[in-house]
Amino acid sequence: MKIAIFGTGVVGETIASKLVALGHEVKMGSRTAGNEKAVAWAEKAGPRASQGTFADAAAFGEILFNCTLGAGSLAALEAAGRENLKGKVLIDISNPLDFSKGMPPTLFVSNDDSLGEQIQRAFPELKVVKSLNTMSCTVMVDPSMLPGEHVVFVSGNDAGAKAQVKQILTEGFGWKQVVDLGDITTARGTESFLPLWIRLWGALRTADFNVQIVKKG
Ligand SMILES: NC(=O)c1ccc[n+]([C@@H]2O[C@H](COP(=O)([O-])OP(=O)(O)OC[C@H]3O[C@@H](n4cnc5c(N)ncnc54)[C@H](OP(=O)(O)O)[C@@H]3O)[C@@H](O)[C@H]2O)c1
Repeated sequence: MKIAIFGTGVVGETIASKLVALGHEVKMGSRTAGNEKAVAWAEKAGPRASQGTFADAAAFGEILFNCTLGAGSLAALEAAGRENLKGKVLIDISNPLDFSKGMPPTLFVSNDDSLGEQIQRAFPELKVVKSLNTMSCTVMVDPSMLPGEHVVFVSGNDAGAKAQVKQILTEGFGWKQVVDLGDITTARGTESFLPLWIRLWGALRTADFNVQIVKKG
């Protein structure tokens, strides 16, 4: 499958490398073609890997991953071009982190809205599925690195899109437990987990952890 990764940071690189290893053709998108990190990744990742602008990647991808800075995600998708997004599934991994007041970051949207919803509202031509945003990128693509039945969440309005994303998560990335929280408004829940995730990161002194659900019956 042809997949676009929007984002040249550690998340974009980790997801892109995993997808290439799974046999997919992957184009990494950036604000500028020839981005240093994207070029270095494409050279390292081999013939199935390529890079370009957000628009180049969007035109190429049958499925899209948003791995951009939360505060830049809407601009990145605008730059990708609405025609290139039409009807496609966007797996949104971004978080609405505001670093303007230093560490720890706050959320620039929360409570009665979320970045996932902002993206879905701004780009109705996309089928947005929020997922993977509640863990470090090392865990995203290698859940078996942690013991137990820990979970990944999905939020989105389109059942078919969520089924497609679940398939990538389970058959591709190896997730055993995918919890469907409901429509895209449930992204408020996973994005609001970030303030706790950041404190756990500090307390546990590692980013390699995740959430396990324990319930009766
Ligand atoms: N780090 C993790 O393990 C982790 C875990 C869960 C979720 N997340 C979320 O995943 C996303 C990616 O995180 P990251 O640390 O890999 O990278 P990042 O530094 O948050 O984002 C890098 C990407 O954002 C783009 N970008 C930055 N400002 C922009 C703007 N104003 N307009 C358009 N694009 C802009 C950059 O474009 P250029 O390529 O042009 O520079 C680059 O591709 C974030 O939303 C983060 O909160 C991260």
